[in-house]
Amino acid sequence: MLKNRTGAACPASGAVTSASSATAAAEPIAEARATELSRSFGKATVEEGEREQRIRRVFESVARRYDLMNDLMSLGIHRRWKRKLVELAAPHAGQRIVDLAGGTGDVAALMAGLDRRVTVVDPSEPMMAVGRARGRCDIDWRVGTAEKLPLADASVDTLTMAFGIRNVTRLEPALAEVLRVLKPGGRFLCLEFSTPAAWLRPFYNLFSFTVIPRLGSWIARSPEAYVYLVESIRRFPDQRDFQRLIEQAGFVGVHYRNLSFGIACIHVGARPGQPEQGAVPEPDMS
Ligand SMILES: C[S@@+](CC[C@H](N)C(=O)[O-])C[C@H]1O[C@@H](n2cnc3c(N)ncnc32)[C@H](O)[C@@H]1O
Repeated sequence: MLKNRTGAACPASGAVTSASSATAAAEPIAEARATELSRSFGKATVEEGEREQRIRRVFESVARRYDLMNDLMSLGIHRRWKRKLVELAAPHAGQRIVDLAGGTGDVAALMAGLDRRVTVVDPSEPMMAVGRARGRCDIDWRVGTAEKLPLADASVDTLTMAFGIRNVTRLEPALAEVLRVLKPGGRFLCLEFSTPAAWLRPFYNLFSFTVIPRLGSWIARSPEAYVYLVESIRRFPDQRDFQRLIEQAGFVGVHYRNLSFGIACIHVGARPGQPEQGAVPEPDMS
């Protein structure tokens, strides 16, 4: 069982539903969704450069209240999802571990420890400044984007990404970059909001379009940022389309696991090739 820094046992992942395999043929065109995403900012259609700038400003404006907002919006459930991500990542001593789009570093803090260092990569200095101020000496912070990772080829054992991929403007180059920096057999684990089960959608939509922007206004004083959040979730490829994009990027063993009936989802894929001697085998996803 995964333990957190204080040694407390993490709760079992009761909200996790079964993994699924892709049935690509019947699904919408994954590439078209990726192209659409690259030009979307919430409901608006914008140029790619403009999208990047606006997203940068969103995280600048919410950085100080970001973690509090996550707790309020998800009623704390994001912590459980992140612990599941870390449990599947199974970090261990001697590995090079990167948390991409790591923001304030909460996923990195779960993975780092006495014998493990984690590198956070994120384009937002204000987000990383909040994390840095917590004084963890087992986390390194590097400015960079998913589309141009400041990391050497085949240098990373495990690369996690939590709620970051939706903000990436060009998905395909970003996935190619992740593949480039992973060692053969190295794994990519990506936690993101996804498409919930049909029965849940009316409640989920009501909550998303009424409660979240109000919380964004009251707590983060940035309602636009949280309208962007809600809209961007809806424009991101669903579970199967994103699985296809990861497969098309060249990853192997790609699969996903729904969390909380598909509100969030963890996709896992590996760089082809044999892991180095002594690498820990992939945990059972069943
Ligand atoms: C929703 S936050 C997630 C932060 C953290 N991983 C978490 O789960 O709380 C999204 C993060 O993605 C970062 N981001 C935005 N565009 C990015 C890009 N092109 N490449 C990598 N990260 C990006 C933002 O700066 C922000 O810190």
